[in-house]
Amino acid sequence: MKDVKVLGVIGSGQMGAGIAQVAAMSGYSTLLWDSNKQNLERAATAIKGQLQKLVEKEKITAQLAAETQKNLRVAGALTEFKECDLVVEAIIENFEIKERLFKDLDGILAPSAIIASNTSSISITKLAATTKRPDKVCGMHFMNPVPVMKLVELIRGLQTSDETYTCVKEVSERMGKTTVLALDNAGFIVNRILCPMLNEAIFLLQEGCKAEDVDAAMKLGTNQPMGPLTLADFVGLDTLLFILQILHRELGEDKYRPCPLLIKYVEAGWYGKKSGRGFYNYQQ
Ligand code: CAA
Ligand code: NAD
Repeated sequence: MKDVKVLGVIGSGQMGAGIAQVAAMSGYSTLLWDSNKQNLERAATAIKGQLQKLVEKEKITAQLAAETQKNLRVAGALTEFKECDLVVEAIIENFEIKERLFKDLDGILAPSAIIASNTSSISITKLAATTKRPDKVCGMHFMNPVPVMKLVELIRGLQTSDETYTCVKEVSERMGKTTVLALDNAGFIVNRILCPMLNEAIFLLQEGCKAEDVDAAMKLGTNQPMGPLTLADFVGLDTLLFILQILHRELGEDKYRPCPLLIKYVEAGWYGKKSGRGFYNYQQ
């Protein structure tokens, strides 16, 4: 069984920052990198702030916060990942960009290292085939916000080995998560069910329903913690559109067609909470 000591996270957006925080809190020596320096700095500051908040709320000790900070390093370049035993990729949901990164990583990492992808919908088999180590590639799909949500969906590509799967499962569990095994089909389990619902809420908005009414109906009527339009803004409208496009293309059914209003918002750069504007305004 592979022993993971150094865990790398690539992409320091909302998911990568959360994954790095939880990995470092779980005792892994954690390396975080993003191609956008500003995002990387923002993530490091956000993690520091989250840890301080957890100490203030007495959810963790000051000692654990200090150890977590010690475990977490920000990388200056991708080549520093050569010491990693497991790398979790959490960059933009775009196959061509992920493919480029997987090829680069494949040339940098030790032959025994595992590459896990946090992709929301892209085929793990297809990502694995971009490398010379398809048996060492696995889907490791965390939920947002990572420090709070209990689930990790694990996805085995056609060539993922038993050893890789067991290792990624054990790391997920050491990070305090419960795992489920999903099929390597577009959207896996959660997004196959969730994203069509979010899309339907956007169709209602397009047809003239008020955003507040759609959200209140689903919160109060089905006991969801967030209404679907708030959740769409929270996930990121760009990410939601990527996922729906993949569901539509791969599964070939009209029911996954992205709502034209969602496409317009993404074209406008209204990506939801992370950009300050989505179905709601977050600028104030
Ligand atoms: N990071 C860390 N902790 C956070 C957080 C964040 N971003 N947001 C909230 N929290 C913590 C808060 O600090 C608070 O902690 P305490 O209980 O210790 O005080 C706790 O979560 C509850 O937060 P709030 O009281 O502020 O608000 P809330 O009760 O509405 O909970 C929520 C916030 C947990 C996000 C909740 O609204 C929720 O569960 N929403 C739905 C989230 C969801 O469905 N996620 C899955 C999205 S789909 C996905 O991830 C897959 C994909 O590929 C797209
Ligand atoms: P995000 O937009 O918040 O962050 C993406 C980050 O990737 C950015 O900081 C960007 O600079 C960086 N990046 C882009 N190209 C890069 C490259 N070539 N090398 C290094 N860094 C690069 O996105 P996110 O919401 O954190 O999503 C990241 C991944 O996690 C996606 O695959 C997404 O589908 C998946 N995911 C998202 C959610 C969610 O709710 N947002 C939930 C589960 C999984």
